[in-house]
Amino acid sequence: MDPLIQVKNISKSFGQTRVLDGISLSIDKGEILAIIGPSGSGKSTLIRCLNGLEKVDSGRVNIGGTLVESTQSVAGRVGMVFQQFNLFPHYTVLNNIVRPLETVKKLPAREARSKARALLEQVRLEDKEDQYPRSLSGGQQQRLAIARALSMTPDIMLFDEPTSSLDPELAFEVFETIRTIASRHMTMILVTHQMNMVKNFANRVLFLEKGNILFDGSFESLMASENSRIQQFLKKIYP
Ligand SMILES: Nc1ncnc2c1ncn2[C@@H]1O[C@H](COP(=O)(O)OP(=O)(O)OP(=O)(O)O)[C@@H](O)[C@H]1O
Ligand SMILES: [Mg+2]
Repeated sequence: MDPLIQVKNISKSFGQTRVLDGISLSIDKGEILAIIGPSGSGKSTLIRCLNGLEKVDSGRVNIGGTLVESTQSVAGRVGMVFQQFNLFPHYTVLNNIVRPLETVKKLPAREARSKARALLEQVRLEDKEDQYPRSLSGGQQQRLAIARALSMTPDIMLFDEPTSSLDPELAFEVFETIRTIASRHMTMILVTHQMNMVKNFANRVLFLEKGNILFDGSFESLMASENSRIQQFLKKIYP
């Protein structure tokens, strides 16, 4: 079986800075890949290239055989959850899910509402549907963002530090939501500094540094790595 995601020798620069330096990577359906590495190493840029939010300078990204050229080319197939939630502030909780279902998935209003309600129940926000995002806690906002991404029935979910703006208790709620998604064998890529998430969810870990893959393997072998750069990084974030 071909890998679901194929990244072939992609490079990306912003001005003089080469942020991705010829990265190649294959990800199979059902894999849960964690990406770690120092700030500025290119983690966000890499996953943004996977859903077309960022255009590569050279190389190519294929998802299920489709060349990723823009967000349009993978519309509905790749869901993304950001650190800063990116909800629609002027829509109610329910409409944050209903409106994209109507416009992107072309569902009739009634069907969109019932689907949105089912998703809100899954992330335990069923009693919040008439509120606006600003009145939700950070953890609730992030769970809404996850529900909205899931409503598009994507093949792949990308998470960019989904819990890093949350205090530990709220982060734990989001963690639990991600655990539920992981248990459904969704293909996931998770950028995080939280090694407990890496340990719990990921069956594969990538360590990025300066736009290069320094490590690609299991959590256990990462822990056993003798690379001094990796050891130094881990000592800081996973003492
Ligand atoms: N749109 C942009 N314009 C200019 N420079 C950018 C842009 N996006 C990212 N960069 C630069 O590219 C480099 C990599 O950024 P990126 O956000 O991918 O890093 P990261 O590994 O996700 O870091 P962090 O852990 O801090 O989120 C950084 O030096 C950043 O300043
Ligand atoms: Mg980042």
